[in-house]
Amino acid sequence: MTDARLAQLAADLPALRLLTDPSDLEHYGRDWTRRWTPAPLAIALPASVAEVQAVVRWANGHGVAIVPSGGRTGLSGGAVAAHGELVVSLERMNQLLAFDAVDRTLTVQAGMPLQAVQDAAKTHGLIYPVDFAARGSCSIGGNIATNAGGIRVIRYGNTREWIAGLTVVTGTGEVLELNRGLIKNSSGYDLRQLMIASEGTLGIVVEATLKLTDPPPPSQVMLLALPDMDALMRVFALFRARLALQAFEFFTDVALRHVLAHGAQRAIDGEHPYYVVTEFDAADERAQDAALAAFEEGVEQGWISDGVIAQSDAQATALWRLREGITEAVAPRRPYKNDVSVRISAVPDFLHAMQELLTREYPQFEVVWFGHIGDGNLHINVLTPPGMDDAAFIAQCEHVTKHLAVTLRQFGGSISAEHGIGLVKRAYLESTRSAAEIALMRGVRQVFDPNGILNPGKLFIPPPSPDGRH
Ligand code: FAD
Ligand code: MLT
Ligand code: ZN
Repeated sequence: MTDARLAQLAADLPALRLLTDPSDLEHYGRDWTRRWTPAPLAIALPASVAEVQAVVRWANGHGVAIVPSGGRTGLSGGAVAAHGELVVSLERMNQLLAFDAVDRTLTVQAGMPLQAVQDAAKTHGLIYPVDFAARGSCSIGGNIATNAGGIRVIRYGNTREWIAGLTVVTGTGEVLELNRGLIKNSSGYDLRQLMIASEGTLGIVVEATLKLTDPPPPSQVMLLALPDMDALMRVFALFRARLALQAFEFFTDVALRHVLAHGAQRAIDGEHPYYVVTEFDAADERAQDAALAAFEEGVEQGWISDGVIAQSDAQATALWRLREGITEAVAPRRPYKNDVSVRISAVPDFLHAMQELLTREYPQFEVVWFGHIGDGNLHINVLTPPGMDDAAFIAQCEHVTKHLAVTLRQFGGSISAEHGIGLVKRAYLESTRSAAEIALMRGVRQVFDPNGILNPGKLFIPPPSPDGRH
């Protein structure tokens, strides 16, 4: 080990797994954004809370920045290590620690993949309801650090709702046990909630106690084709009033084209500008009749052009693939991602404002719209034109994001609905948070991590360092 600081770490913690091979630095130094060149100092793979604590103390002593790392499926650059940081990957801390049938909780190590958590809940006849396409690769620690949302938020809320307790290692190496699974706890500030969505800037989540719930009744999945944006919100209002929705997700014909080219099967013939995949409780004939009636009313009103109901689990999976496959399908085109939200009541006006903005500013680009419209959350992906220089593309996208940020401020929306601010949106934090809020957020960071070693440069733009780097 040529770096003296790393040699010291290896000497202090002989059992700690440390990686310095270029291929490992490359692998662990990037997330799904693929926009920065990975350049971490090394990768640490602790196997215990004590090891995480010791690594954080070492980092404080040597002034080395730490990037907490889960499955690196993040879409905002939060897990990127491009400036000589130590990546602390939780991937070896992936064990189920406890199930409590009375509390209906699972306690897990932070590196456990979301899907493994979901599967563990199922073995006890319960569910952990946070769900999205990266379930197989993302970690529960990353979900907590980003307050991940996904496709069932309309029924179950974000990750935040499902965290009964957290064990974290702060920036000073202190181990905190936050809330300890309590349902009622009015003993002052809820530090657990501060950790959620903190993007690894306040502490490293090492363990989590997760709430579980009963499985929903049997459901049906429907794909709808719609003529325009107005119809989208009218159908949402109609379906929400009549059915017990588990999901209501939309995408455009452009998104569909990419997913079909990526191997998904077309389910509705013809050309339609907008599509919705919706899932709702359909335990009995009455619920199924209500769904059919809502569908027919939507057709009569001219809001629904066509539709299909899945007749089997396989068909339901195929319909979901049309929505869930979008991220992977567009990935080769290196999308510039926007993940914005407004209150549901503001969605129709916001959609019009966005359509106008994008048509005006992006006539030359292919733009893919999709997302969790039932939660007021839109994903707007701008695809890199083939052959276009990355820097020129990003510069143009950033220019439009400035306009987007202004529009969001007018609508009281958020520049990051569920992906986090990370590196990608840190320049736009003030579109969503007031100066007073940002000052307090920085103050909170200072308290938990006085030396600023946890994920510096993420969430906030840091003051330039003497060598000009961020
Ligand atoms: P990483 O990418 O490893 O890290 C994300 C952030 O969390 C970073 O800032 C990192 O430093 C921090 N972090 C990671 N682990 C810890 C820890 N133990 N302690 C403290 N900080 C930590 N997101 C959604 O919200 N909804 C979706 O529907 C959705 N769908 C997706 C679909 C696909 C195909 C992909 C690729 C991504 C999707 N995402 C979605 C984004 C991503 O999966 C989530 O943000 C996820 O929560 C990230 O988890 P991760 O373990 O991969 O975190
Ligand atoms: C999704 O809803 O599919 C995700 O948030 C991923 C993405 O935005 O690409
Ligand atoms: Zn999403």
